Amino acid sequence: MDPLLRAASHQKRSSTMSNAPEEAAPYGGPAAPAASASAPIKRIRTHHLREMKQRGERFSMLTSYDQYTAQIFDEAGIEILLVGDSASNNVFGNTTSLPVTVDELLPLTRAVSRSVSRALVVGDLPFGSYQASPEQGYLTAARFMKEAEAHCVKLEGGAEMAPQIERMTRGGIPVMAHIGFTPQSEHTLGGYRVQGRGATADRILRDAEAVQEAGAFAVVMEMVPGDVAAEVTAKLEIPTIGIGAGNQCDGQVLVWQDAFGLRTGRLPRFVKQYADLRTTLLDAARAYDTEVKSGAFPAEEHTF
Ligand code: KIV
Repeated sequence: MDPLLRAASHQKRSSTMSNAPEEAAPYGGPAAPAASASAPIKRIRTHHLREMKQRGERFSMLTSYDQYTAQIFDEAGIEILLVGDSASNNVFGNTTSLPVTVDELLPLTRAVSRSVSRALVVGDLPFGSYQASPEQGYLTAARFMKEAEAHCVKLEGGAEMAPQIERMTRGGIPVMAHIGFTPQSEHTLGGYRVQGRGATADRILRDAEAVQEAGAFAVVMEMVPGDVAAEVTAKLEIPTIGIGAGNQCDGQVLVWQDAFGLRTGRLPRFVKQYADLRTTLLDAARAYDTEVKSGAFPAEEHTF
């Protein structure tokens, strides 16, 4: 895209957000993201998402696990980048999100945090790193904030996670909750199943209200019927983010390899593919291989 057009479209998206100026960073350090009453917002904060909800504006979230996708998605205007525990399946080659560890996710989160200038970066707490107790959860979340420079964390669970959410929030760590289908509990939930159908819809609403009450600044709803997600979105003050939860949520999230066609095979019904990057990469790799083997690469211009 032409850089001027890109700047104009970024300006247009940003100009509808709250422009209350941020104060300069109190203790120095690299230039603080400055905003003035007339300038577009420089960095997405949790309160901007709530303000967007109040104005009826939607926002977008994608996963990201590395420097280049973080830079590209940030430039595209995606408000939130999630360094998901889905790195387990999308980076580390596991078949579920369960095996990934804190020590594996921290460097990915740090790479993303250091590569964005505007997006809110969410560190995802992996299985077993917060469920045991609020203290365990706080100490893990603090590592994501200190060692990986995450701006906030995400954890899976509803009412049963309220003590963890309260502890983290009280300790200065913003928390995004994740309810409905929670992949870390796939063995308890009996596989990939829509949650909140029929009589169990109430449970989704109770979980959503419990995480809001505990202090979560937003809640992801995964694989929840559209009408249930719409009701939750209307009832909550905090923004909802849907993945397989219909189009009435305040924001949407997808795993980027699903959305842009790096992953092959059967995809969940809620995924829409916006590109076919696998074919693009495959063609490029084959062209390189052919030229290396034929001697066409490197040519004169690539040679010192
Ligand atoms: O880890 C992840 O990618 C997620 C999203 C699917 C919400 O939790």
